[in-house]
Amino acid sequence: MKSTAKAAAHPNIAFIKYWGNQNHELRIPANGSLSMNLEGLDTQTTVSFDTDLDQDQLVLNGEIVGNEALDRVSSLLDRVRELGEIKTKAHVLSENNFPTGTGIASSASAFAALTLASITALGLCLSEKELSQLARTGSGSASRSIPGGFVEWQAGTDHDSSFAETIAPQEHWDLVDFIVLISKEHKKTGSSQGHRIADSSPLQKARVADAKRRLDICRKALLEKNFQNFAEIVELDSNMMHSVMMTSDPSLYYWQPATLEIMAAVQSWRSEGLPVCFTIDAGPNLHLICPAEASQAVKRKLGALVNVKSILTCTPGGPARLLEPEITGV
Ligand code: DP6
Repeated sequence: MKSTAKAAAHPNIAFIKYWGNQNHELRIPANGSLSMNLEGLDTQTTVSFDTDLDQDQLVLNGEIVGNEALDRVSSLLDRVRELGEIKTKAHVLSENNFPTGTGIASSASAFAALTLASITALGLCLSEKELSQLARTGSGSASRSIPGGFVEWQAGTDHDSSFAETIAPQEHWDLVDFIVLISKEHKKTGSSQGHRIADSSPLQKARVADAKRRLDICRKALLEKNFQNFAEIVELDSNMMHSVMMTSDPSLYYWQPATLEIMAAVQSWRSEGLPVCFTIDAGPNLHLICPAEASQAVKRKLGALVNVKSILTCTPGGPARLLEPEITGV
């Protein structure tokens, strides 16, 4: 017996970042975060629970994957099996239309799509809040890829209180995110490991203590579409996270010389009146955010930089969505 469902989700870019956990196993974050889903980038995942399987299987972008990646998927599936009160193993087929491991949070879209597909394949029906909580246990940022548009993840203190919700729909603000790739190499230290050493930085306490203030400023600027205030807080938040990363034990240096060069260029463009800002996740690549009306000018500026390998263009994206429910019983 087989029961299959297919779901899709966008990755997201955090304007106020998640870095460090109160509880690593459940991924209860040290601080709340705020993000935008990225239309144009997609993970599509098909989950088939199959009574003929004796273990879970994962095929990622056409390749069979084992070890840690499979264990992480199996842990999420275990939670889903517990909810469905079954023991059946599953085959998971997942495809990204963007490069993995480059600081574009592929785990966010991957675990959001996996959560929705696996829950649906078992014929279960969860609320958006419950899906966000469940996706969070697979990858923290995946909690933010379940709701659509501009999303805030309440840190909370336990499984029930830690989930993400839309604070403004995708139509709210025509922002463009240019993901500027300066390196396509797989990053050496992934986010999960980074979260675990965040507390070893003496700066993490100050970053977390100030998080509510940054969230309030960012949320207000976003809701009022005040780009100047938005830009300043987004860059500050990114720089604070990277300060923690650089002062952790061991140190995590994600920036490359080209990263810094573009950061400086963006600030000088903004001081000349071009509304654009940067934010950087756990990798060397940059996300340049600007209002749609400035996007042609930003693109022209980027075209003149020698270190840019390629650029992906994204706009605000919708929620995780179901593509194919094909339930035939488990
Ligand atoms: C720098 O959600 O990828 O992108 O929970 O271990 O999967 P895990 O970590 P992940 O961390 C994201 C870190 C970040 C900032 C952010 O997206 O908020």
